[in-house]
Amino acid sequence: MLDDFSNARPDVVAELRMLTTPDLAVIEGDAADGTAVRRLCDEHDVDSIVHFAAHKSVPESFADPLRYYRNNLLSTLNLAEIAVERGIDRFVFSSSAVVYGTSGQLPVTEETPPAPQSPYGSTKLMCERILADAAASSGLRVIILRYFNPVGAHGSGRIGELPVAAGQNLVPAVMRVALGESDRLQVFGDDYDTRDGTAVRDFVHVMDLAEGHLAALEADLGSHQYRVFNLGTGVGTTVLELAAAAESATGRPIPCEIAARRPGDIVESWADCSRAAGELGWRAKRDVAQMLADHWRFVNCRRDVPAH
Ligand code: WQD
Repeated sequence: MLDDFSNARPDVVAELRMLTTPDLAVIEGDAADGTAVRRLCDEHDVDSIVHFAAHKSVPESFADPLRYYRNNLLSTLNLAEIAVERGIDRFVFSSSAVVYGTSGQLPVTEETPPAPQSPYGSTKLMCERILADAAASSGLRVIILRYFNPVGAHGSGRIGELPVAAGQNLVPAVMRVALGESDRLQVFGDDYDTRDGTAVRDFVHVMDLAEGHLAALEADLGSHQYRVFNLGTGVGTTVLELAAAAESATGRPIPCEIAARRPGDIVESWADCSRAAGELGWRAKRDVAQMLADHWRFVNCRRDVPAH
């Protein structure tokens, strides 16, 4: 694996080796650096690429769009070029439901016209287009996985999302309240046209996503050179419902304070995942309670680990 560890803890490699294989090959480097990517492929026999490397905060992408375009597009270009150059067969790309924007159509299908509403979403859609054109002009076979809202952690509690930088995502914010690191959850808007006025998201367990990637690597794409799949649960949960579920999962109160809407937020989004079920044999198996229980176990196991 290639990672710059800019958003990870120093001990994560040891944890990964414990959970996978002690001889897991790890190269510290930036996928936006073409020489690091080339070195990886020179030193290792790479037959497939799974590309996760990207900045991924909607609000941060509004504050610093060019950093997002540079990082997210350059890393994809580097990996696509080496894949075509070396005749690598399979390319799996970590995309996001944010490419859909406020689609209006629910549940969201892969045929829903993309309409990203943030620089981050635009970078993901541009990366998809780069990979579609690379697939059309070479033997590269590309699978695009559009994640809805990833949440949770490995059931062992050893690896999960514990961003070095204070993330803006909902579940890390909820966990900070549960841990007593914040005194309340800011709820960005309660005047949306939804069942409780707060935004709706399709939260999906990261372990279900991991299984989706394995299914994508093994899938027989038939005549497709390029195929897009939604990875979600098909279930919408509001922000307030998630906060209530977190109180149950953690046994801690999650006081909420209504704040202004956040620029770029979509109102509601949940997935139609029937294509992944039919063509990858994949369905999410874990619910929001499981996601939050696993996330809570992880943040408690990892509290002792110093950041960078
Ligand atoms: C969800 C809802 C917020 C924090 C994220 C990532 C994106 C992609 C999809 C992977 C929104 C509200 C949040 C808080 C809140 N992931 N919220 N208080 O924006 O749907 O997108 O997941 O590809 O990379 O950005 O997720 O968790 O940031 O927000 O009320 O303190 O929770 O307004 O309605 P989002 P999020």
